[in-house]
Amino acid sequence: MNKISMVDLKGQYIKIKEEIDSSVAKVIDSTAFINGPSVKSFQANLENYLKVKHVIPCANGTDALTVSMMALNLKPGDEVITTSFTFIATAEVIALLGLTPVVVDVDADTFNIDPEAIKRAITPKTKAIVPVHLFGQCADMEAILEIAHKYNLYVIEDACQAIGAEYIFNDGRHQKAGTIGHVGCTSFFPSKNLGCYGDGGAIFTNDDELAKQLRVMVNHGMTVRYYHDYIGVNSRLDSIQAAILDVKLPHLDEYNKARNKAAEYYDRAFANNPRLKIPGRSTHSTHVFHQYTLVTSGLDRNALTEYMALHQVPAMVYYPVPLHMQKAYLDPRYKNGDFPVTEHLCQTVVSLPMHTELDEEQLEYITSTLLAFVNK
Ligand SMILES: Cc1ncc(COP(=O)(O)O)c(C=O)c1O
Repeated sequence: MNKISMVDLKGQYIKIKEEIDSSVAKVIDSTAFINGPSVKSFQANLENYLKVKHVIPCANGTDALTVSMMALNLKPGDEVITTSFTFIATAEVIALLGLTPVVVDVDADTFNIDPEAIKRAITPKTKAIVPVHLFGQCADMEAILEIAHKYNLYVIEDACQAIGAEYIFNDGRHQKAGTIGHVGCTSFFPSKNLGCYGDGGAIFTNDDELAKQLRVMVNHGMTVRYYHDYIGVNSRLDSIQAAILDVKLPHLDEYNKARNKAAEYYDRAFANNPRLKIPGRSTHSTHVFHQYTLVTSGLDRNALTEYMALHQVPAMVYYPVPLHMQKAYLDPRYKNGDFPVTEHLCQTVVSLPMHTELDEEQLEYITSTLLAFVNK
């Protein structure tokens, strides 16, 4: 059996090695390292895939979020509502820009931001909502858009973990994650569903004016060379990464299918186990399983991950600490107990290996190893 890892970037690379190597070589040969033709090609292909008017490539998902908030002209003192159960980057950029992060709890089944909790957190200072499509499944966008419309708020989707997922509206329309709010952000970090071989990210929007501004802002706020209309940042997707992503994009749906197949295998193995709760599926979203995350009950989670490691199966905790309990984000407005769903999840979740290369033998070994511990 092949060694089991949380992600298998090598296995995925080997299958497309020739195409990747030749695309990378082409960029090196052209020396068009910044804003070269591969960036423009990938941008156009991603716009087409997502059915969104504008993709603005940038250096990483964190910058995508930062630049989006800058372009929407959010100012210190403005409140931005986001989820207590996410990767830190979501809140980090809010804090870095001097905005006020307002944290709310999540839904226990989907792990995504709870629209009712958003409603309760709105004040006259609220300017934006940042839903995170956590682990590859869209947040409840229709409810979020309704709240945003009612209170005149921006919606900035953090789709860093959900590229390719589709939100399903009540009328049956499907729309890709990240293309639904005013602006959407993604990450091409290597382990992401569409990952490059370094850092990368992108911003999506259907708003022509905003797109123009975002494109300028990621390049030092420069409209005409050496004329700067905005305070911007240096955040470009480099040409080599774009060339890699352009090779991988046509495989994205097949990659997401492979992840779903692994998730279904896990679901079947754990569905009726009273100590394991399989990840809930929203009726309003497809799932691209960036992570496969179980909620444990009545188990010693440290002992579980140690047992798995002892049997060469990695298992990770995403995320062990709620946002409001992170040392750097402690705030007198919040205390332990304020977000009971998130706090419970942080104590009980465990994520299993999830990538495009998992085979039946590995899945059988992972599930039987976990069940051996659970049913002890
Ligand atoms: C939910 C979420 N937001 C933001 C980011 C930041 O993306 P990046 O690492 O590309 O800066 C990530 C990924 O790392 C993420 O998972």
